[in-house]
Amino acid sequence: MANPFTSSVAEKLKKLQTPFYYYDTEVLKQTLQALTGEAGKYGYQVHYAVKANANPRILSIIKDFDIGADCVSGGEIEAALNAGFPASKIVFAGVGKADWEIELGLDNDIFCFNAESLPELEIIDELAARKGKTANVALRINPDVDAHTHQHITTGTKENKFGINIEQLDAVLDRMETLKHLNLVGIHFHIGSQILDFEPFETLCAKLVEIEKRFSERGIFLKNINFGGGLGIDYENPDEHPIPDFKRFFATINRHFTPKAGQTVHFEPGRSVVAQCGTLISKVLYIKEGSFKRFAILDAGFTELIRPALYDAYHKIENISARSGEAVYDVVGPICESSDTFGKDVKLPVSHRGDLFALRSAGAYGEIMASQYNCRKLPKSYFSDQI
Ligand code: LLP
Repeated sequence: MANPFTSSVAEKLKKLQTPFYYYDTEVLKQTLQALTGEAGKYGYQVHYAVKANANPRILSIIKDFDIGADCVSGGEIEAALNAGFPASKIVFAGVGKADWEIELGLDNDIFCFNAESLPELEIIDELAARKGKTANVALRINPDVDAHTHQHITTGTKENKFGINIEQLDAVLDRMETLKHLNLVGIHFHIGSQILDFEPFETLCAKLVEIEKRFSERGIFLKNINFGGGLGIDYENPDEHPIPDFKRFFATINRHFTPKAGQTVHFEPGRSVVAQCGTLISKVLYIKEGSFKRFAILDAGFTELIRPALYDAYHKIENISARSGEAVYDVVGPICESSDTFGKDVKLPVSHRGDLFALRSAGAYGEIMASQYNCRKLPKSYFSDQI
């Protein structure tokens, strides 16, 4: 795909107050087409992980592709329902579900609670009993598979707070026999995020056979197997790979896991759905020539995009106003912290005050993780088909 920031797009963007998120709705729709097409080949069900981006317009485009929503808070359940996702396609995960959030899920008859511990199961049972309901639950199991990704986004090893350890499964199932307001509908995993080497998924499939045996020995049939999210994207080359490799991903799972008759396989992609359609657009406030470094100081900081500060994440940086010359810059924000740096020693065209910078592949975990630190305003969003 060609770089979307042609001079005519840059001209239009220049009229808007920076910093802001710019979403290419065409890229989003093509991504969703590829996702649903590839998942559909195997009958896999997809629940978009709302945590990646809950912008109402983004949600409404996604829900038109007839997929479900994976939520991790009451707020996300409300956002999904407001956007028109049917409650029957909402799954609710998270290690710390508050009572009101569980009640919200029960009141709306969501598809299922992905439960992460025995105490949580006990509370879901108690709250369901009070309402005279039965809650569908899937057990999130910690499979102890290392996703070999950044430590802050690895979730499936046994030191992580997530899921029920395999060693404790029998005790949990014993206790669940006494919890009469729960209906066990399946199991759930999520091993990590930004995964591009699929070997951990293959390991997970191998473990799954073992885990399923534990259930079948007790006469429990697992109707739903949920692999969570995790598929990574190409942050280095967003124009070469605007659409993640859903084909290879689903084919890998299909090769390594054969569902039983009557079993449905689910996924919860977040990043792979929305990352490439979003860009943070920011203006150069100052070019500061230090004694050791040359800084391009932007009007966006980690308040708008925290991923570089938090995970050392790389986002491709482009100057979409200037095209000539070359110089090296540390690209930084205005926040009063050294970690407010988007990139070090970045080669760019010679840049000036007022130039627009694009921080690419920022559609996932960008706008949604924005904060108001330093009393800054939350960023606005604009869409390619509306500017
Ligand atoms: N399902 C569960 C239970 C999850 O915890 C997550 C992400 C997903 C699905 C979606 O995973 P994805 O397809 O997006 O990899 N803020 C971090 C990423 C945190 C991911 C947390 N869980 C970042 O900016 O890289």
